[in-house]
Amino acid sequence: MKRNFHFLIILISIVLVAQCNLHTNKQAEAVCTKEGQVNPNGDSELALLMRQMTKHAEATKKALQAGEELPAYPSEVDAIDTAEPTNPDKHNPGFYSGTKFYLAALKALYASRKEDRAKHYEMVLNTCSSCHSVVCPGPLKKIGRLRMQDN
Ligand code: HEC
Repeated sequence: MKRNFHFLIILISIVLVAQCNLHTNKQAEAVCTKEGQVNPNGDSELALLMRQMTKHAEATKKALQAGEELPAYPSEVDAIDTAEPTNPDKHNPGFYSGTKFYLAALKALYASRKEDRAKHYEMVLNTCSSCHSVVCPGPLKKIGRLRMQDN
């Protein structure tokens, strides 16, 4: 009986996750599909923040390659969960768990020893690409170019 119950919970979780992905994939066509495209209603807070995050990642990569100190911690990203998106449907439970991973990875980068920073930077990029592969794949190419091995 207990076993069946566990099985049921797992099944329900799978269905929920699958539905959520379907939903967000449909939304993905609306915004964030074309890199650098200006949204018809003007740029949302979230889109502007994403551009700052991209700039910060570029600066981090440069600093790591040159063996320099990290750029200042981008404190504006701590408010990522309240930044207004172009499409309000982007703010679903999946989005919030994704932002938590991003912020945790970013904080781990800033807390890490110098020799571990490149590895932590790659982990930050993993959180960018895992959210984008679900929410909107448009910027994935750009995120790929932020990798340390891509010069
Ligand atoms: C939790 C999900 C999530 C994470 C993590 C995330 N993004 Fe995004 N990103 C989005 C959403 C949603 C949009 C669409 C924003 C809008 O249009 O309002 C977006 C938009 C963008 C855009 C397009 C901005 C524009 O000009 O319209 C770029 C580029 C981008 N993200 C890069 C990144 C990079 C680089 C990272 C990691 C440093 C990252 N994203 C992390 C969800 C995420």
